[in-house]
Amino acid sequence: MSSYDVIVIGSGPGGYVAAIRCAQLGLKTACVEGRETLGGTCLNVGCIPSKALLHASHMLHEAEHNFAEMGLKGKSPSVDWKQMLTYKQSTVDSNTKGIEFLFKKNKIDWLKGWGSVPEAGKVKVGDEVHEAKNIIIATGSEPSSLPGVEVDEKVVVTSTGALELGKVPKKLVVIGAGVIGLELGSVYARLGSEVTVVEFLDAVTPGMDPEVQKVFQRMLKKQGLEFIMGAAVQKTEASKTKAKVHYKLRKDDSEHVLDADVVLVATGRKPVHDGLGIDALGVELTKRGQIAVDKNWQTSAKGIYAIGDVIEGPMLAHKAEDEGMAVAEVIAGKHGHVNYGVIPGVIYTHPEVANVGETEATLKEAGRAYKVGKFSFMGNARAKAVFAGDGFVKILADKETDRILGAHIIGPGAGDLIHEVCVAMEFGASAQDLAMTCHAHPTYSEAVREAALACGDGPIHM
Ligand code: FAD
Ligand code: NAI
Repeated sequence: MSSYDVIVIGSGPGGYVAAIRCAQLGLKTACVEGRETLGGTCLNVGCIPSKALLHASHMLHEAEHNFAEMGLKGKSPSVDWKQMLTYKQSTVDSNTKGIEFLFKKNKIDWLKGWGSVPEAGKVKVGDEVHEAKNIIIATGSEPSSLPGVEVDEKVVVTSTGALELGKVPKKLVVIGAGVIGLELGSVYARLGSEVTVVEFLDAVTPGMDPEVQKVFQRMLKKQGLEFIMGAAVQKTEASKTKAKVHYKLRKDDSEHVLDADVVLVATGRKPVHDGLGIDALGVELTKRGQIAVDKNWQTSAKGIYAIGDVIEGPMLAHKAEDEGMAVAEVIAGKHGHVNYGVIPGVIYTHPEVANVGETEATLKEAGRAYKVGKFSFMGNARAKAVFAGDGFVKILADKETDRILGAHIIGPGAGDLIHEVCVAMEFGASAQDLAMTCHAHPTYSEAVREAALACGDGPIHM
């Protein structure tokens, strides 16, 4: 039996980051992982492979739509799907191997296999039981199921199957206009599939700024995605190569059927903790089935902590990573902290969509007085030069104090631009602080400054 200061169960962005920080803080650390490679959902079947396919398909889109106008003539590239999957997999492999390297460098033992917690202070992996003064559960999440929809990962697939289809489908039906549906729907639309997105609600990407939702959906429609909104999927019927998707329109209860070669079910994810045995140890769950934790990420069982997708909060890799660092510091007797008010969200479509902090809806609900500073990328010279003038930056600031409360960006580089606002918010900056900061010309980030100026005396280029 080996004995550790900390055993982390799960090696996704939450688990591997927690393990590395624990080791850096001098704690003897092991990490249990049942998959064949480290890195969890994010590196293996989530963030990384999806971004590789988004990148490759975006290059094709640029070649087909924008090259000629820039004077780049000639035949557009054609799609070698097998090679694209090889490129995607090599991106995944180099990242998962990178975590293996970091584990070795930090002297973290990888306990290979599926772990459980037979009693407090013990972790079982296969037939071996290890002692741990502290246990961190970072077992992540998996796709939620939908009644009447049977996933076979060939014709009716989750995001995992959608990342390795045998061929580019002619007709793809996506159930759910959330982040996964729109990112992967974009990939296949660019590669030539007819993509129809069926969404229960009346707007895409629930919880996002309504103005962004509208512009985003319009842009995706222009890129060829079709939307059926306000539609509840009832069931799917699949053969070996085809499927039918039955849905009901909420406005009049009328029933409809769509034909598809592939159906992507992207209706949310749920936490994974079955089989850990933690219920017998008194670990409590929230009403939504996540592991409940206190402000130090400790569960209701002393010495057992939980982080990442398995607890409440946005299911995002960077949120899991921040919790991983913070919980390691708590265990090492320091003061771990996560500012949940400043966690950015990014959708890696083209253009990108990014947000942080409050929306107008949350501010209205809280009865807070706020002002809006908005600037269109049409007024940004750099964006216009690359055919990316569609979209805008919107900054929300406190009406009295001018303190920045949130930001919503749809446009080029939104996923990077948002961090300027995140840093400003971390420092409690006002919109004027951002507006008075010199921004290099010509950059997309000038649009952020102009939106900050719009919270005061007005933007220059609009
Ligand atoms: P996970 O990454 O899910 O890792 C948990 C690990 O624990 C898994 O490897 C699992 O095998 C292991 N495990 C579970 N139970 C046991 C056990 N009993 N014993 C041993 N090991 C166990 N987020 C972003 O921020 N940006 C993105 O661009 C993004 N893109 C995504 C794209 C897709 C298609 C998907 C599905 C998700 C995406 N996400 C993205 C979400 C992101 O992947 C998750 O938020 C993140 O992976 C959560 O990290 P985690 O460490 O909590 O869990
Ligand atoms: P989601 O919660 O983002 O969206 C699910 C959508 O499905 C919602 O719009 C919902 O209204 C709809 N829906 C639910 N039931 C339905 C039904 N019966 N018929 C039609 N529509 C229905 O979930 P998604 O896209 O599966 O993503 C899961 C998680 O993965 C997200 O929480 C996200 O944080 C994370 N993720 C993050 C990414 C990023 O940061 N770029 C990329 C991909 C995933």
